[in-house]
Amino acid sequence: MIMHLENKTALITGGTSGIGLATAKLFLQNGANVIIAGQETAKARKELADYDDKNKHFFIYDTAKMKDIEQLGIFVKDTFSKLDIAFLNAGVARFAPLETISESFFNEVMNINFKGAFFTLQNLSKLFSENASVVLTASAGMHKAHWGSSIYSASKAALRSLAISLSNEWVNRGIRVNVVSPGTTDTTLLQKLGLEGEKFQEMKNNLIAQIPMGRLIKPEEIANAVLYLASSGSESQTGTEIIIDGGAFFKV
Ligand SMILES: NC(=O)c1ccc[n+]([C@@H]2O[C@H](COP(=O)([O-])OP(=O)(O)OC[C@H]3O[C@@H](n4cnc5c(N)ncnc54)[C@H](OP(=O)(O)O)[C@@H]3O)[C@@H](O)[C@H]2O)c1
Repeated sequence: MIMHLENKTALITGGTSGIGLATAKLFLQNGANVIIAGQETAKARKELADYDDKNKHFFIYDTAKMKDIEQLGIFVKDTFSKLDIAFLNAGVARFAPLETISESFFNEVMNINFKGAFFTLQNLSKLFSENASVVLTASAGMHKAHWGSSIYSASKAALRSLAISLSNEWVNRGIRVNVVSPGTTDTTLLQKLGLEGEKFQEMKNNLIAQIPMGRLIKPEEIANAVLYLASSGSESQTGTEIIIDGGAFFKV
């Protein structure tokens, strides 16, 4: 199976930590030229210090801001002129029961998780090469009933739906669009849920208890699936979803 990305150009949004950063490393190891986009690039610059400067580029952007999305499109064009791989992965997780959800909570999650990816893709559309591959990060959780997940899961289900629509819309251009859906993955996203100390450990233990394999997923394990979807190894695959969740999907 061909998973090399030599001479391929790639954009990773949310590439500054967690799953996106693990994917940036894997893409660089496999020969790609990568733009890493996010709001705070210092940690990624440090973690990717060993990789050749000519293969890595950083762009600070807030995916919820249309102006930033436009600027990202210009940066991609100026840096690469043609884009072979787009991994749209920037996202936040917020959980609350429906009765307490304000318009600003709704807008924050939908704007970052769905609207940002939608308009980033619109901006990139004319830059995609023939045989380009788009991968969107949804969530295994969107398939299940979880407390407080109405908006988060809806934002991820919207991405899943977008991949199905675009797989058809872009098939004649040779552009593939697929989804990776992580289960609970050991990244800073969990720390950002606002619990500390014992409460954080308790939450983590509860999450692990829902995973038949008895452990969290590693960001590198999601990155492996993204590499597969991004590469020609998956060239007949479009509109599909890969769920990586340690067996939680079929847990009764
Ligand atoms: N971890 C899990 O259990 C899990 C499960 C299912 C799905 N996911 C999804 O996986 C994706 C990656 O999350 P992760 O687990 O790797 O968590 P993470 O370490 O918190 O990474 C989230 C990434 O999204 C970026 N981001 C957040 N808000 C942004 C904004 N407004 N504009 C631009 N970038 C923004 C962050 O960049 P900055 O920090 O630079 O802003 C960061 O690079 C997300 O879409 C998440 O919903 C995660």
